[in-house]
Amino acid sequence: MRLAASSNAVNTRPATRLRRPALLLSLALLTGAAHAAPPTVQDTMAQRMVACAVCHGPAGRAGPDGYYPRIAGKPAGYLYHQLLNFRDGRRHYGLMTQMVDRLSDDYLREIADYFAALDVPYPAPAPAAAPAALLERGRQLVQHGDPARGLPACVQCHGAAMTGVAPNVPGLLGLPRDYLNGQLGAWKTGQRRALAPDCMAHVAQRLPDTDVAAVSGWLAAQPLPADTKAAAMAPAGNSLACGSAPELGGGR
Ligand code: HEC
Ligand code: HEC
Repeated sequence: MRLAASSNAVNTRPATRLRRPALLLSLALLTGAAHAAPPTVQDTMAQRMVACAVCHGPAGRAGPDGYYPRIAGKPAGYLYHQLLNFRDGRRHYGLMTQMVDRLSDDYLREIADYFAALDVPYPAPAPAAAPAALLERGRQLVQHGDPARGLPACVQCHGAAMTGVAPNVPGLLGLPRDYLNGQLGAWKTGQRRALAPDCMAHVAQRLPDTDVAAVSGWLAAQPLPADTKAAAMAPAGNSLACGSAPELGGGR
């Protein structure tokens, strides 16, 4: 990881945004709790990204309250696109946007690569909270879609193991049910958008609310497989347009 000359993590080049009072406070709290007050703080990416842990958990492994998503180990292209989405208004969460709205594409890419490379354990899945019939409906939709409705199976793009497909498609496991509901709902209403072609808008519009609940409930209760890494991209022509890199905005 790149080491800059300065010894001050927060005031270094692109992380200007981390200077906001609330975040500075959280940063101070965190560093205070985590370390026995080292006299100087090394300017590593890990140190600069400490502020993210306030919400995303230590090393980005997910927050404690069932909403803040894990960011560690997600495909780099996917994370990069999300940082762009928050910065450029395709996703809306005020504090996230504040974190990134002055940062350059290059630095966002660096942040994405940093979190993508972190390999930290996943928590055990939450116990399934929905009725068995709803969960079975969720499993069916995830694994087979609903051709009558033009709904492709989620696994077609997110990988048979549901751990994502590098570099741009995230996994669907290890995410809290509330977060999944929130994201699918946001896509339905156009609150969340992706770089074109926005495959998930197509998908979400074909999921009535009960099916959103079914899919989220089932996914959130699934354990991670032993290998949690995203699958390699399928050979060109062997997947939906939305599952292959060039159309997904591999550029930019
Ligand atoms: C104040 C809390 C907070 C802080 C601090 C924060 N985030 Fe977030 N972040 C969120 C929330 C909440 C979401 C989900 C928002 C939504 O509903 O779409 C999110 C979403 C994300 C996502 C998209 C995850 C996904 O799976 O789609 C990425 C990437 C991300 N944050 C990176 C960062 C990075 C990098 C930092 C530190 C520089 C950071 N966040 C700091 C609250 C925070
Ligand atoms: C045609 C391909 C395709 C299909 C089919 C598909 N997805 Fe996606 N999905 C994507 C892509 C691409 C992204 C990343 C979008 C972005 O960059 O913001 C994504 C992102 C997501 C996310 C956001 C994850 C996060 O961490 O925030 C969720 C949740 C999701 N998909 C759920 C589903 C579910 C549930 C299904 C099946 C009902 C499904 N997807 C089917 C392509 C697909």
